[in-house]
Amino acid sequence: MLPDVLREEEGRVVITVDENIPNDLIKTPGDFRESFFMLFRNPIIHEKMKEILATIGNTPLVALKRFSPRAGVRLWVKVEGLNPGGSVKDRTALAMVEAAEAKGRLHPGLTILEATSGNTGIGLAMVAAVKGYRCRLVMSEGVSVERRMMLEALGAEILLTPAAEGTDGAIAAVREMMQREPDKYYHPDQFNNPANWQAHYRTTAPEIWRDSGGAVTHVVAALGTGGTLTGLARYFRDHRLPVKSVAVEPLPGHKIQGLKNMQESLVPGIYDPSLADLHYYISDEEAYHTTRRLAREEGLVAGMSSGAALAGALRLAHSLTQGNIVVILPDRGERYLSTPLFRPTPVRNAENLPQPCGSGR
Ligand SMILES: Cc1ncc(COP(=O)(O)O)c(C=O)c1O
Repeated sequence: MLPDVLREEEGRVVITVDENIPNDLIKTPGDFRESFFMLFRNPIIHEKMKEILATIGNTPLVALKRFSPRAGVRLWVKVEGLNPGGSVKDRTALAMVEAAEAKGRLHPGLTILEATSGNTGIGLAMVAAVKGYRCRLVMSEGVSVERRMMLEALGAEILLTPAAEGTDGAIAAVREMMQREPDKYYHPDQFNNPANWQAHYRTTAPEIWRDSGGAVTHVVAALGTGGTLTGLARYFRDHRLPVKSVAVEPLPGHKIQGLKNMQESLVPGIYDPSLADLHYYISDEEAYHTTRRLAREEGLVAGMSSGAALAGALRLAHSLTQGNIVVILPDRGERYLSTPLFRPTPVRNAENLPQPCGSGR
């Protein structure tokens, strides 16, 4: 699959160089090769961005150097924290808003109302700011203070529900508000909105296929709404590509922001458990430990759900003799600096921990 700037002509690949590219970028054959590589990896680089929303997606796929258990098994991470709002949820927020606009369900004057553990809220607040909508977000008091401050910075209104009720308390509060004033709001409902998983079907999955050069054998995503896993799994299945989808779920009573244990939560309507080829359960301790390793050994400061996904990928990696595993890292670590995640407390080695709930299903 070639990006827009490239086309095939009589067996040759022809590159269209935008006049906005400064001439000194393309001077010598060596420079040209470099520019070509940059354009191929990141086709949006040749455009002047019309607005911040145009920078969503096309996140880098980065090789991990120290996590692979053996030479034939390689691990790559897709760094979704490099989206402009800092998480994978920028993709879904934009997709849900634009789908609602296209269907006439969202128009000027309506307020966007959503229950969110933070990242979808940040994505929605950013999209609402650019497009000129009001945005009201309901979330658990347990959400980190950095996320709340970020939402305030983007001009969103925030309503808090008791921490003990988790995200489900926020969902119930939104349902009640919608019943009381249905004409005031547009409720994207990320847990039941197909535009959520379709964003990953349209963008995340083909990016992984393109940037891995078709070498990816497994994709690993941790479950919140299930949108990421659903979109990836459906794309690879529908296109008959040899890529296995791997779900990672936290244990009941977990504290990993953004993730859901499906036994103890309202199961999202868009989540289809039959799509995952493999399924791992990860303890909080294992997720935290792996998040710290990622920062200290690879220089990648990501959130706790990233550590959970990577911990699942490591279990998978140990069971393989060959493979190219791509792990979705949903957000940035800066968002958790006020939590115990990066505190330098001594931690037991996760490999020596008893296995929580079996290592696969
Ligand atoms: C930090 C974080 N990680 C992972 C996820 C899970 O992604 P999905 O909802 O696509 O399952 C979310 C979702 O909100 C999240 O905020």
